[in-house]
Amino acid sequence: MKPAILVTRAIFPEVVERLSAHFDVDYNAGDEIFDPATLAQRLAGKQGLMCTPTERISPELIRASNGLRAICNIAVGYNNIDVGAATAAGMMVTNTPDVLNETTADFGWALLMAAARRVTESEHYLRAGKWQKWSVGDFLGVDVHGATLGIIGMGRIGQAVARRSMGFNMKVIYHNRSRLTPELEAHANHARYVSKEALLRTADHVVLVLPYTPDSHHLIGAAELAMMKPTATLVNIARGGIVDDVALIEALQAGKIAAAGIDVFENEPHFHPGFLGLTNVALTPHLGSASRPTRLAMANCAADNLIAAMSGSTPPNLLNPDVLKR
Ligand code: DGY
Repeated sequence: MKPAILVTRAIFPEVVERLSAHFDVDYNAGDEIFDPATLAQRLAGKQGLMCTPTERISPELIRASNGLRAICNIAVGYNNIDVGAATAAGMMVTNTPDVLNETTADFGWALLMAAARRVTESEHYLRAGKWQKWSVGDFLGVDVHGATLGIIGMGRIGQAVARRSMGFNMKVIYHNRSRLTPELEAHANHARYVSKEALLRTADHVVLVLPYTPDSHHLIGAAELAMMKPTATLVNIARGGIVDDVALIEALQAGKIAAAGIDVFENEPHFHPGFLGLTNVALTPHLGSASRPTRLAMANCAADNLIAAMSGSTPPNLLNPDVLKR
């Protein structure tokens, strides 16, 4: 008998086919998001779980899911999973790092450019039929080339964002839990390590690429936004909750910063309606890694992890190796 697994959301048919060769697959082709009770019910009797950031894998769910051996997230971020509870219950947890670095960095740049050069705002104006004449002062933005780029969270995606700045002749400063090696800093457009406060006060464009943890909750709030230049932009391609969205809306309304590009929100997809009344923000629905090749690679990476976990090998992206000592 093949082990039973649950795939919680619609993925790519070729990946489902791959999984079906190894497992008895309960596949949510309908793609609705399971409420906690439905998720617990569908998980009953399963040995493997392939999930996404839309499912909260809580301690209660973990405790109720006897027999579950592996939780494989289709995302690099895994704040939707209680890894400690999974480890205590003897379950492996995996994520999908690396395959999305370049695509997510591309998207960070798309938002940075859109915010700095007012792309979405001016497109709305044009679509609304308001463009009657070209004017010297139309939609004046802030420059990207030659500016100082500040990156908070200098992991692999942050470094990929930094490398792209070479073409724009920018200076890069960064803040991170730990300083990079001199070699990595050199590859990241000679990025210079600074304090968070120095970064916020100096950068012309701030990009957030750090994981969401209790420590990074509201890392950017009213006080931090007040430190930024009035001409600065803020881009969040990391996770909702790192920015205090109410404080950001107030800062954008008051012109404390020039603009923002926001892909992730507190309580998404039910984001704060105050964003909709603002013109100086480019808004996207959590699309950082959303190119076809990259999302397919993420689903295949999660499948690799699940197949390895269930066959007794160590999954390539195991997040809780302590579980193997049990
Ligand atoms: C991730 O991988 O964490 C993304 O946010 C989901 O696309």
